[in-house]
Parts: sequence; structure tokens; C-alpha cells
Amino acid sequence: MLKGKVALVTGASSGIGLEIAQKLAAEGVKVGLFARSGDKLEALARKLAEAIALPGDITRYEDVEGAVKRLEAELGGLDFLINNAGVGIFKPVQELSPEEWQEVLQTNLTGPFYASKAAVPALQKHGGHIVNIGSLAGKNAFAGGAAYNASKFGLLGFSEASMLDLRYLGIRVSSILPGSVDTPFGGAPTGAAWKIQAEDVAEAVVYVLKSNPRVMPGQLELRPAQPPKK
Ligand SMILES: NC(=O)c1ccc[n+]([C@@H]2O[C@H](COP(=O)([O-])OP(=O)(O)OC[C@H]3O[C@@H](n4cnc5c(N)ncnc54)[C@H](OP(=O)(O)O)[C@@H]3O)[C@@H](O)[C@H]2O)c1
Repeated sequence: MLKGKVALVTGASSGIGLEIAQKLAAEGVKVGLFARSGDKLEALARKLAEAIALPGDITRYEDVEGAVKRLEAELGGLDFLINNAGVGIFKPVQELSPEEWQEVLQTNLTGPFYASKAAVPALQKHGGHIVNIGSLAGKNAFAGGAAYNASKFGLLGFSEASMLDLRYLGIRVSSILPGSVDTPFGGAPTGAAWKIQAEDVAEAVVYVLKSNPRVMPGQLELRPAQPPKK
């Protein structure tokens, strides 16, 4: 069902994005791998059946636009955009610098807008699907989360509003909201067995993409089934 489709995965050099790229490739999807670490993307592209490395910075509109153009030219179009690239800087408001605030907001919120905007003309050709990797931090604020919470609350709002616009162009928009995932995101992975793994998020992406095109999967929250009792 996904075989032969083309996906752009942002943040494909590490963690959740890397797993999403691998899972999609295993489903026969041709994958465009976008992130700043070109060497990691090249290494991953060599491992996957049909994938191309698209080094770029999500905070630069021209980089994302260029990636979409290359996908259309080299892989024949674009069906899926997975907005996954993100950063986390966790500090109380009084310690957060303006540059840190900008980095988090530009990457986690402006990035998905840039990628969505750049991808819409290609996605609307055959009925596409955008999946935004949000977070439960987009619903629940926590101390030290001012920039991250703001970016993920904003992403949820952007995701819902863009869904209401883009469905009339034949494009579906979904959000996946994981809790804490065991990736390099907040430091080194812990290996804790109860934690959600990157592959669990990747499976959720495949599930959403495979849903019947008449259905608009809105928000899918992923929580650990058995976290340690507090
Ligand atoms: N881990 C968690 O607990 C968790 C929970 C909920 C949601 N999430 C979300 O899941 C997404 C992926 O996180 P992760 O855990 O997989 O983290 P990760 O392992 O640190 O990966 C982050 C990815 O984003 C890319 N990236 C960062 N800034 C970028 C930029 N300016 N331009 C292009 N790519 C950029 C990184 O690649 P380069 O450095 O090579 O550019 C990397 O591939 C994020 O949106 C995060 O907010 C994570």
C-alpha cells in the first residue's frame, strides 16, 4: 500500500527520524533523508533500498525547497512529508538566551511550516500526507520547558490549522505526540525497557499513513504502557 510512494523525512540522521526512514524503506517507500549531518545521511542512504541524502538546515527555507525539488527530479514526486527534525533546550525562562529561544522555535515550529509550505505543491498532485512529530510536551507544560513547550504547543496549533486548510487540496495532516522516547535527544539513551522506543514512533507513522484515505487521523498520543509508579 505504501510501496513506490516517496517520503521526505526531516531529522533522518538520528533517533526517531532515522527509524522512520528505515521503517518506510522497509515498506517499499523511496525516502529523502533531510538533516544537517550529510555524512550520516549518506551512510543511511547506502543501507536503504531507494533513498537519497538531502543535507540541509530546516531553518533555511531555501534548503527545504531545494530538497523537495530534488525529490521530484530524482525520485519522481512527493507523497509524504514527515516533519520530525527538532531540538530541545531545557532551561528556566530567566536563564534562556534569546538565541536559544530562537533556535528551538525556528527548528521545531518554523521548520515544519517551511517544509509544509515547500512540499504542498508536490503533495497535492496525487493526494499527500503530512505527519508532524509533536510531543506530549505540546499539551503538558513543565518547569524548564518554556521554549520547548512553546514550540510543541505551537506545532499542535499549526498542525490542526494546516489540516483544515490542506484537506481541501487532498492533503491529510496528522500529529503524533510521543511521551519520552529513548533517543539521544535528552542525552544518551538509557536503555530502560519501559520507555517508548524510536521504532514505536516509526510504527505509528506507518499506521497513520496506511489508514484509509477517507479518514483524517488527527492526533495520536503515545504513552509508555507501564512507566515506573511515582
Ligand atoms: N526523544 C524524545 O523523548 C521525544 C519525545 C517526543 C517528541 N520528540 C520529538 O521527536 C523529534 C525527533 O527527536 P529525537 O528524539 O529523534 O532526537 P535526536 O535523536 O536528537 O534527532 C533530532 C534530529 O533532528 C535533526 N535536526 C535538528 N536540528 C535540525 C535543523 N536545524 N535542520 C535539520 N535537521 C535538524 C537532527 O539532525 P542534524 O543534527 O544532523 O541536523 C536529528 O536528525 C523531535 O521533533 C522531538 O521534539 C522526541
